[in-house]
Amino acid sequence: MCVLNLITVSYGTSMEISKSNINLSDWQPLITQANKAAPHAYAPYSKFYVGAAAVNNEDQIFTGCNVENASYGLTVCAERNCLSFAVNQQSSQIKALLVYTQQETLTPPCGACRQVIAEFLSQDALIASANHLDHLKVWTVAELLPDAFTPQLLS
Ligand code: THU
Repeated sequence: MCVLNLITVSYGTSMEISKSNINLSDWQPLITQANKAAPHAYAPYSKFYVGAAAVNNEDQIFTGCNVENASYGLTVCAERNCLSFAVNQQSSQIKALLVYTQQETLTPPCGACRQVIAEFLSQDALIASANHLDHLKVWTVAELLPDAFTPQLLS
């Protein structure tokens, strides 16, 4: 069911990621999974339902949704919950992540999520945003957070 970089695959088979992955079909597996995760969001305050899906080198897909809190500031975005889930599942390297909302204007990762994305994905990995209107935007991690403070700087 998955197609990424024009390689047709099902879960568990190869998905290659390159800057040429700007076609909707390339991202369909992540769009499908993020779309499924979005309604699981706990978003009673904003009513802004976000789903995220990340794929690793073994073509396993992990999802997340945003979880809000009455104290507001403790809200965790879908992207960060998705990456935390992947860590919890002892995932191999994540090679791409997609954020999905049913918003006419595509939702980009927030600043906090960009920093966490830079922790776990390489600078040339792709991040995408998609919506219910089949709109898609793709960035590299470096485009979202240039000159990131990364773990390599601590070594
Ligand atoms: N949110 C995400 O989950 N991801 C984003 O990329 C943007 C914002 C969430 C946080 C909060 O629950 C709601 O959307 C409104 O900001």
